[in-house]
Amino acid sequence: MKLKGKVAIITGGTRGIGKAIARRFAAEGASVVIGNVNPDSGKEALRSLAEEGLNVANVTVNVADPDDVAAMVKHVMAEHGRIDILVNNAGITRDNLMLRMKMDEWDLVLDVNLKGTFNCMKAVSRPMTKARFGRIINIASIVGLVGNAGQSNYAASKAGIIGLTKSAAREFAARSITINAVAPGYIETDMTRNLIAQAKDTFLDNIPLRRAGKPDEVASLVCYLASDDASYITGQTFNVDGGLAM
Ligand code: NAI
Repeated sequence: MKLKGKVAIITGGTRGIGKAIARRFAAEGASVVIGNVNPDSGKEALRSLAEEGLNVANVTVNVADPDDVAAMVKHVMAEHGRIDILVNNAGITRDNLMLRMKMDEWDLVLDVNLKGTFNCMKAVSRPMTKARFGRIINIASIVGLVGNAGQSNYAASKAGIIGLTKSAAREFAARSITINAVAPGYIETDMTRNLIAQAKDTFLDNIPLRRAGKPDEVASLVCYLASDDASYITGQTFNVDGGLAM
């Protein structure tokens, strides 16, 4: 029970990596609130986690909207009186080559991935600062480190998350708030399910461990970073990628 008594918000936790993190946190004793944009998928995630015996709550939130995020944090504070852990997991892709990329594809990905992460960090920073404790884990991507053709918007958002993580880690370290980034490689989720076969093969050819990762393999590291075991780690980015970006 590494997270017993802790209160955690996980954005976009209804499926894929976020759901695996929610499952792991709840199993480790945390009170988990999923913040997700789609109310129907939020209810469905809660139902399936309840079937596994895990009690998780859901708040409908668009992380790109600062007012929505402020309302989510207010709600969690009213319900639980504290927020110990924030996992910024909500993320989207709108892939296109730069020459064809529309401004709304650029704006949407930057708004959800980067501004959404900023909005949530800013909103929890006040209660965490008051409590002089906090763990923030931002889900970046190895694409933010090495780039990817057709993903200039996504790569920029994820590289931005890494810079944001380091700056905030410096700002909040004196209050015992640690802030780290996790950069997954190619993980089997709905986000990667629709990749064309050729792109999947290219990934697999370049992954030393010769397979895609599982959401639970990302959740293991996130859980460690959220726990007391990681109390002396801040401002870092950790790849979970089967060796892809080494
Ligand atoms: P997914 O597409 O399966 O899940 C994304 C979640 O974010 C969903 O629950 C969705 O409803 C939620 N969401 C989307 N827009 C939102 C918004 N505006 N406000 C609140 N919630 C919103 O994605 P997956 O694969 O589980 O990815 C999770 C995170 O991991 C993302 O940040 C993604 O960029 C990152 N990642 C994923 C990789 C992969 O191979 N699957 C690789 C590297 C990073």
